[in-house]
Amino acid sequence: MYLRERFPILERKTYLASHSLGAVPKASEESLRQYYREWAFDGILVWDGPWWKMISNFGNMLSDLFHAPRDTIVPMENVTRGFAAVASSLDWKGKTKSGKPKNKIILTSLEFITSYPFWQGWAEMVGARIVTVPSDDGITIDTARLVEAIDEETLLVPTSHVYFRSGAIQDLARLSAKTREVGAYLLGDGYQAVGIVPIDFVSLGVDFYVGGSHKWLCGGPGAGFLYVRKELVLNLAPKFTGWFGIANPFEYEPSQKFQPAEGIMRFMAGTPAIPALYAAYAGISGVAEVGMEKIRSHSKMLTAKVIEEADARKISVRTPRDADSRSGMVCLDFPGAKEATEHLVSQGVIVDYRQNCGIRVSPHFYNSSDDLKVFWEKLDRFRRA
Ligand SMILES: Cc1ncc(COP(=O)(O)O)c(C=O)c1O
Repeated sequence: MYLRERFPILERKTYLASHSLGAVPKASEESLRQYYREWAFDGILVWDGPWWKMISNFGNMLSDLFHAPRDTIVPMENVTRGFAAVASSLDWKGKTKSGKPKNKIILTSLEFITSYPFWQGWAEMVGARIVTVPSDDGITIDTARLVEAIDEETLLVPTSHVYFRSGAIQDLARLSAKTREVGAYLLGDGYQAVGIVPIDFVSLGVDFYVGGSHKWLCGGPGAGFLYVRKELVLNLAPKFTGWFGIANPFEYEPSQKFQPAEGIMRFMAGTPAIPALYAAYAGISGVAEVGMEKIRSHSKMLTAKVIEEADARKISVRTPRDADSRSGMVCLDFPGAKEATEHLVSQGVIVDYRQNCGIRVSPHFYNSSDDLKVFWEKLDRFRRA
């Protein structure tokens, strides 16, 4: 357990829901006060001063955490917005060598909800085709099957790094080898990975990666991000753009053809959510301070304990048993799991419930084995009653 005293909610609750909303550190309050003070005392001067700096600090902090080169990450309000930046920068009218349309989007049946309306809407707009690779067990997607589905006609594979329904990790490095071979792009959705699984964008070989701050990064909503592989940044120009994404916005004349900004800023469109970046700064700093390797080994130890205790009670575990194949969440399913969740929450044990997953239990670096003991005591009492 690390930095526990910095998280006020832990004084009041047994908090095990970091897959949904990470606990906020006390330092976020000071960071948000600082945001207010700078705005209150400096007015417009904040733009060229601390606000602008915060935009690049946010990208730098994340690139350090994910071993990415500088100037490859920009803020996005959320993952869905990041999808729009990526989708609008690709050529959906291209052809394969044999003259077939190169416009397939490969999804899986375990993506986060937002992926389906977004990619279906996009496919309709540009005339693209969607192929959805199913899951056999509702927990994992067979990587070999996904690799098989990626063919010459594929343009984009937007898929989760960690599946939100089960916490299973997808082997993005294997997928990127295939997308590169067929001239397609790989877009990782890492919302359930960032802050709990060590990540190196370069060795994963992803072309794009989106994520955000309000889960395992403990940074609150509104501070999502987009990573673009360095070699691609200057070769792509999103059509979904705006004044933050163009070169020299203040000299720009409406009669001109706009020029995309030099560098990763071209993926932005309008004013970013500055207060969200201030809040996120404190959360992400805490994660970086503990370090991803420590976070990962602590998490593996606690999730293994959850699985062990579930087995002892013959509760079904809907998360991979192999520690290297799961993130920080364990899903526990049994008849009455929904009612049990409601009871636990009423008793101050914060977890949540999803259909086809069960109770989602997610200890983070600030949790201890004692938190899990409280969880099991309350759950056992409820199930015995
Ligand atoms: C895998 C995954 N992607 C995306 C999201 C959220 O998408 P957005 O940032 O667009 O709200 C979540 C959960 O909130 C998620 O679990």
